[in-house]
Amino acid sequence: MNIKERAREILAGMTLEEKLGQLNMLYIGMYDNGIDELKKAVRAGDGGSVIIAGSIVPGDGDDTELHKEIAELQRIAVEESPSKIPLLFGRDVIHGHKVVNPIPLAMSASFNFDLIKEAYAETGEEAMCDGINWTFAPMLDMARDPRWGRVIECPGEDPYVGTKVAKAVVEGFQGTEMPYKMAACAKHYIGYGASEGGRDYHRAEISDYSLRNYYTKAFKSAADANVLTVMNSFNEINGQPTTSSKYYLTDILRGELGFDGFVVSDAGAVHQLTRQGVAKDYKDAAGLALNAGLDMEMNRLCFPNLRELIDEGKVTVETVDTAALRIIETKLKLGLFENPYSQHSTFDLNKHLETSRKLAGESVVLLKNKDNILPLDKEAKIALTGPFLHTKRDLLGCWTLDFDLDYVTTIGDAIKAVAPNATEFTALRQYDLKNYDTVVAVLGEAFDITGEAHSVTDISISKAQAEEIHTLKRLGKKIIAVISAGRPLALSEIEEEVDAIVYVWHGGTQTGLAAADVLFGDVCPSGRLPITFPRVTGQIPIFYNCPPSGRLCNGYYSDDLQWTNYEDCLSTPLYPFGYGLSYTEFEYSDMTVSKEKFTLDELKNGIKASVTVSNTGNRDAKEVVQLYIRDLKASYTRPLKELKGTEKLLIEIGKAVTVHFELTDKDLGYFTPHGEYIVEEGEFEIFIGHDSYTENKITVELF
Ligand code: GLC
Repeated sequence: MNIKERAREILAGMTLEEKLGQLNMLYIGMYDNGIDELKKAVRAGDGGSVIIAGSIVPGDGDDTELHKEIAELQRIAVEESPSKIPLLFGRDVIHGHKVVNPIPLAMSASFNFDLIKEAYAETGEEAMCDGINWTFAPMLDMARDPRWGRVIECPGEDPYVGTKVAKAVVEGFQGTEMPYKMAACAKHYIGYGASEGGRDYHRAEISDYSLRNYYTKAFKSAADANVLTVMNSFNEINGQPTTSSKYYLTDILRGELGFDGFVVSDAGAVHQLTRQGVAKDYKDAAGLALNAGLDMEMNRLCFPNLRELIDEGKVTVETVDTAALRIIETKLKLGLFENPYSQHSTFDLNKHLETSRKLAGESVVLLKNKDNILPLDKEAKIALTGPFLHTKRDLLGCWTLDFDLDYVTTIGDAIKAVAPNATEFTALRQYDLKNYDTVVAVLGEAFDITGEAHSVTDISISKAQAEEIHTLKRLGKKIIAVISAGRPLALSEIEEEVDAIVYVWHGGTQTGLAAADVLFGDVCPSGRLPITFPRVTGQIPIFYNCPPSGRLCNGYYSDDLQWTNYEDCLSTPLYPFGYGLSYTEFEYSDMTVSKEKFTLDELKNGIKASVTVSNTGNRDAKEVVQLYIRDLKASYTRPLKELKGTEKLLIEIGKAVTVHFELTDKDLGYFTPHGEYIVEEGEFEIFIGHDSYTENKITVELF
């Protein structure tokens, strides 16, 4: 019997009350006396899942001990509740658990999607040891506004990277065959990253053209990877809150993207429909959400009204059945009916720490390295300073709830462990620093100025930190800025004064060790930017896959323009998408395309592009080879560049490697505003290079 048949059989044996119970996620914070009432609710069959959270916007640490009750709560569900259906236990396992990996934006910078998948598989093991069988990740919101605090959770500004991250995280958590290990959750569907002004929870204006060509791609990839759940977003799009939009939640998510799991609301999103002015009250909100295609309410505030709505004919039993079936199918796909209790009790901590260190190292982006001042000699006399030299908690970033700070080595300690002549200074005076030519200044931003409800109006590096750099410059020092931050910071004020910039992000538990690995050359930096770094906040939004303009002012790619974008700032970003330096040099040559003129049928069979990449420097190093396209003439404006392929590989000193890509109609086409996917005749430019600024290209023609 297949999953759908088994689910229907289970449903057939349930009362309407039992079915309605499955549509709720229970939250201990709803009950005055906590765990006892939660157990009572489970025993009564009031919920199909429980969120393991101590506060409903956890984000920054959560000391709940609720996971210790999971086995008992599950026992009550499967032995004492009316339907005996096992529970899902959901938690925000966003980028780590006991071992914290880099924030998702930093993980994207690694462009090593296999390593990301491995890290998430290990994170899943850790979470399952705590009884968690459902995580509220991956977050797949495309974002172009680093003022938005949640930009740190997203895959970056590019949909191709979004699709690769979606697949890696879903398969990392779930596995690739049933019974899946644990349920992943693609969130926040959809358009949350377009919140106006970077203000969290706000409105978004997204055309159907942009929706289908930019925002939905990562969710489509998650659906193709069989993601079991989707979480809807708080925001509205073009006047429609996603929570109550059949267009977004059913027509597009299920009809076009092929998602067939269940949709859970974000925390409070259903009752917030009353504040958004589309629902009269909680009962009205419940009917709007369920009828739109939302299957489970996080925090059981509105859905208890569904019974009344059924009696009033505003909600049908069939709609309830559909939602309940989706939830039961998910539990069947996880094998919970056979094994309701976690099968995991221990994990290999050292292996997980090693994976995380490797990923943190591959996420580091070398933004500047004047006169190859890096890597440093381990015997060098270096002065250490900066406000983030000895922080631990900030390195983990936000949206990490179960971390263990004992596993964290600070950046300062990690440096001193390999460089015996490194000395810390808090006061920056010539007298103290007279014997030190080189200073490592560890700068950045605190973890809790990023994440949910933590947007900012100015992404500039702080004035105090900039002042430190100015002081060191006045003292004539060579300055290496190591920056531990979540979002892209605007670094214009210090960029010219420093000799090197090493962006280590909120790199997780292993940030410190990874920073030292890169600073002293044990790891050659191979991170590339998954999001544009503006010069100043005022350039936002600024992103690489922008369309051409009628006047010659495509400011992203050149300041040598007939028309400038701004009177008071260059138009180009400080660092473009895909950018990142290495300790070696790579040369690109012999780019070829299998056919420079091809028919649609030939394209459907794939045209091949290749390039030879040579390591002409003096270090073995990894390169992220990037393939972009440009559709030179189409019925709608198309981006100046679109990333369509990446390959990260190690190239040894003096070696040359030929890298192969294949392009099909799926890469050269696009969606019209009406949802039709088309591939149009005409010329395309194919670029293969080091970053989005590459001009290494061949023009091909589809006829
Ligand atoms: C929060 C977040 C969401 C999270 C959920 C549960 O408001 O928006 O990402 O998964 O609530 O904590």
